[in-house]
Amino acid sequence: MPPRLAVDLAPGHKTELLLRNPVMPASGTFSWGAEFAKHYDITRLGAIVSKGITIRPRAGNVQPRVAETPMGMLNSIGLQNVGIRAVVDELAPMWERWDVPVIANLAGDTVGEFGELARALDGVPGIAALELNISCPNVDVGGLEIGQDPVAAARATEAAVRSTDLPVIVKLTPNVTDPVDVAKACEDAGAAAICAINTVLGLAIDTKRRRPVLPRGRGGLSGPAIKPVALRMVYDVAQAVRVPVVGCGGIRTGEDAIEFLMAGAMAVQVGTASFANPRALLDVVEGIEAWLCANDVGDVREIIGCALPARD
Ligand SMILES: Cc1cc2nc3c(=O)[nH]c(=O)nc-3n(C[C@H](O)[C@H](O)[C@H](O)COP(=O)(O)O)c2cc1C
Repeated sequence: MPPRLAVDLAPGHKTELLLRNPVMPASGTFSWGAEFAKHYDITRLGAIVSKGITIRPRAGNVQPRVAETPMGMLNSIGLQNVGIRAVVDELAPMWERWDVPVIANLAGDTVGEFGELARALDGVPGIAALELNISCPNVDVGGLEIGQDPVAAARATEAAVRSTDLPVIVKLTPNVTDPVDVAKACEDAGAAAICAINTVLGLAIDTKRRRPVLPRGRGGLSGPAIKPVALRMVYDVAQAVRVPVVGCGGIRTGEDAIEFLMAGAMAVQVGTASFANPRALLDVVEGIEAWLCANDVGDVREIIGCALPARD
């Protein structure tokens, strides 16, 4: 018998979020899904996560927007996207035909915009859940300053939760001293799950030009370089909240994913790895399954949080 891989990301919530396995793309690394659907059966994934969606379409930041780093990359895309109207009118009808839940990643400039975006997607067929990006390091307003402040993060969460019956996942920034306060504030404000982490602020210098490589200077570091940071944050947050945690940061293999599950993640997201290996998500699904078989574990839920200290 193959091991059971299914997980429930919103237990007890009005609208359920059942995944056939705990693996999904990280926002911004899978576009809107259609490109990957040409290459493999994306319904083999637990869920799809969209690129960050804003109220109005955005062209994003000037080029160059990415820089390679040892074991990772820096990006400063600046939330290039088609805007909420096109998502409702053109993308959601496509997602509705797919036999896999689609999670819409939302990026408001203000707390109120998170409510507006959530309201626009409430009840729209094809949308299974929302993920709030309160942690984008590459925009002038809305991103980090909400995600770094527990009060603002809770207000953004509340604004979204009040506007929809869909489960709301809140995605944390690692660019804080301690993400636990923000996670707890979001849980108290009604988040169905917490995702950790977004990119880590970084910088690269072009020594020929004697200037930062990226026009905005800072960028968001992702890839294997941030895996230990992400794991530590998942481990800390999973001990502090009761809602499910979604782990993200530097995952490339099934073994990486197993580490996150043991650290308390109920599901994982794979981002940068898909750029080097477009099949990375399937490799992670198959790798988890192979690990469970090799270790005689019949149900993935048996290992979730097994590395955490005992809880009273
Ligand atoms: C090119 C690129 C674009 C991204 N765009 C978004 C986005 O729109 N919304 C978001 O919440 N996170 C975005 N992220 C962050 C990823 O979803 C993820 O949190 C981060 O890259 C860490 O995971 P990884 O190491 O597996 O890439 C982006 C990351 C990259 C590399």
